[in-house]
Amino acid sequence: ADTLGSAAAAQGRYFGAAVAAGHLGESAYTATLDREFTSVTPENEMKWDATEPTRGGFSFGAADQIVNHALGQGMKVRGHTLVWYTQLPSWVSGLGATDLRTAMNDHINGLVSHYRGKIHSWDVVNEAFQDGGSGARRGGPFQDKLGDGYIEEAFRTARAADPAAKLCYNDYNIDGVNAKSNAVYAMVKDFKARGVPIDCVGFQSHFNSASPVPSDYRANLQRFADLGVDVQITELDIEGSGTAQAGDYATVVRACLAVSRCAGLTVWGVTDKYSWRSGGTPLLFDANYNKKPAYDAVLTAL
Ligand code: XIL
Repeated sequence: ADTLGSAAAAQGRYFGAAVAAGHLGESAYTATLDREFTSVTPENEMKWDATEPTRGGFSFGAADQIVNHALGQGMKVRGHTLVWYTQLPSWVSGLGATDLRTAMNDHINGLVSHYRGKIHSWDVVNEAFQDGGSGARRGGPFQDKLGDGYIEEAFRTARAADPAAKLCYNDYNIDGVNAKSNAVYAMVKDFKARGVPIDCVGFQSHFNSASPVPSDYRANLQRFADLGVDVQITELDIEGSGTAQAGDYATVVRACLAVSRCAGLTVWGVTDKYSWRSGGTPLLFDANYNKKPAYDAVLTAL
């Protein structure tokens, strides 16, 4: 196979990229996307501030652009994200508990029903746990006002709105075995035991020298898979360049391939030109859309 998508497909996996609607008019961007990738994740366009800027006032224009493009190319779409503590419009933070619960469920119903049948996997709840050793929930409007139960409520609401979509919990710094991933593991185990509808865990996998690819990455993916959920690499990017970066990318791909329930990988952008890590070069195509050593390493590892 000579593209990321076809090589991944030969392994029964998807290979995706985060996409920004504003770049779809750039021919090199879209040509690279369409040639190489089999899944897309809207980078910001499905977040709450973009899709429900006023209460009950849904705006799907930019997200629809991405979804329509992707489906027209036969790509899968990952929905990102329904409930997150940030990139919220200010009206959400002002609500009391009763109103906030209603607003959360209305938001989930609004998005999931608008895209029913078009979304492969939804990141239902994003980044709900704190970093560090506590294993505690991260503060934010939903946690602070609704308590721990908001996560399972969000999953139940999403399931009812689109029974065919896979429902994921998504987070960063859970890529290896550590206190944070242990806390997520305990939540997923509890959900499976009690029949809360969860299908997958997304491992963001934003790596750099301070947060390198963990040596127990594969083992950690496997222990989640053993709970009976799929695992997905959802926002992969790795700071660096040359052979070191290429080797790290190959390690990530091999970890996914070694876990039969690892459904696919998504890199967090098409090109270094538009990476959210400004000034960094964490992706597979350089700013001129040339394939980097990391690209070749991924293709070889697939
Ligand atoms: C980032 C986007 O890439 C940026 O454009 C935006 O300014 C901030 O959000 N974890 C996530 C993603 O789940 O939604 C974030 O995306 C990166 C970290």
